[in-house]
Amino acid sequence: MYEEPVGYATAGHRRYRRQPSGYERFMQEQNIPIVRGIGVRDVRELGLAPWKRMGGQGCFIHLDRVGARTGMYVVEVPAGGALNAERHIYEENFLIVEGRGTTEVWREGSARKQAFEWQPGSLFSIPVNTWHRLVNATSSPALVLGVTTAPITLNLFPNERFVFDNPFEWTDPYYEREDYFKPREDFEPHPEKGHAFLRTNLIPDVVHCYLPLDNTRGPGFRLFRFRMAGNTNFEGFVAEYPSGRYSKAHYHPSGAVLVCVRGKGYSYTWPKELGARPWEAGKEEFVKMQEYVPGGMIGAAPGGGDWFHQHFSVGKDPLRQVNITGGSRSGVLRVEWSNLDDDIAGVSEEIHEGGYALSYRDEDPHIRKAYQEALKREGVKFEMPDSIYA
Ligand SMILES: [Fe+2]
Repeated sequence: MYEEPVGYATAGHRRYRRQPSGYERFMQEQNIPIVRGIGVRDVRELGLAPWKRMGGQGCFIHLDRVGARTGMYVVEVPAGGALNAERHIYEENFLIVEGRGTTEVWREGSARKQAFEWQPGSLFSIPVNTWHRLVNATSSPALVLGVTTAPITLNLFPNERFVFDNPFEWTDPYYEREDYFKPREDFEPHPEKGHAFLRTNLIPDVVHCYLPLDNTRGPGFRLFRFRMAGNTNFEGFVAEYPSGRYSKAHYHPSGAVLVCVRGKGYSYTWPKELGARPWEAGKEEFVKMQEYVPGGMIGAAPGGGDWFHQHFSVGKDPLRQVNITGGSRSGVLRVEWSNLDDDIAGVSEEIHEGGYALSYRDEDPHIRKAYQEALKREGVKFEMPDSIYA
């Protein structure tokens, strides 16, 4: 029974814990491991458990400050088997980590099944509320990373029947077009940001596909952005840093997750409040670091608020990263911090120009030193041009 406070005593607990959200309850009910943190070194190292709903072994990845809006999981498609067919009213992207197989897609009640093949590095998206099934006809298991907007959807509508068994048909994103999953390679300028941009529903191989020169996040940086399957939230990119080079630091709110698909590297991330030079300020204990190899990932700004992040290629191969979660500057998140008529700074605009990227000149001297030591351990040459520090 509730008791009113007496006199000027205050009501309520001084501190309290919140209850799980609709998506957090959904995850708990699936009875598979939930991995938390700022990133993962390699999803192949994660412990999986039988996942009845999906029909394969799996686990959730619920990264700090990302999991409120973006759901992630890995699931194994058994050798000579298939996952259960499903449909849902949230958006879903798949990145193939290991193995080969086929995805079948069809509309409720339609006999026209479309199928396309995948291999390691294939990236595709399932149109909202269409049936889909991942099939593995080979003799070894396949490992798949799934990325969804299930958190937004289940947090707003915590009703599994509404989300997974909803008769409403979105006819717009999927017309059973013959060429729907035919990969497209015709880059156009991004309608807002101007970077190379691809509208496609399938990228057969993000590990080896061509990336146009971009240079915005560092010298020799390559990039294209993409939009798939009529998604409103998921806009992603494929990006690459040459061997022996690293990105400028920049800051923004959380949202983006970068998955390593080639090379190896590490990322630093720290709250903007620590300033541009946290080592020099004696605050390095608050800088977080994640190392990763292909199959690993880092939440770009895992602390909430604005966090700096900076990525370092340490392998002999270039470091290639895929963003399949969207981020604070694409999809629904940007509506939270920008008005429709705001002039938004792009990645190339530096802090001293009113942007949010830190020039190499202004970065903490520790960063270059530690990077050179990391390269030495790997036997890789430092390739940053001198001129960018001048
Ligand atoms: Fe970023």
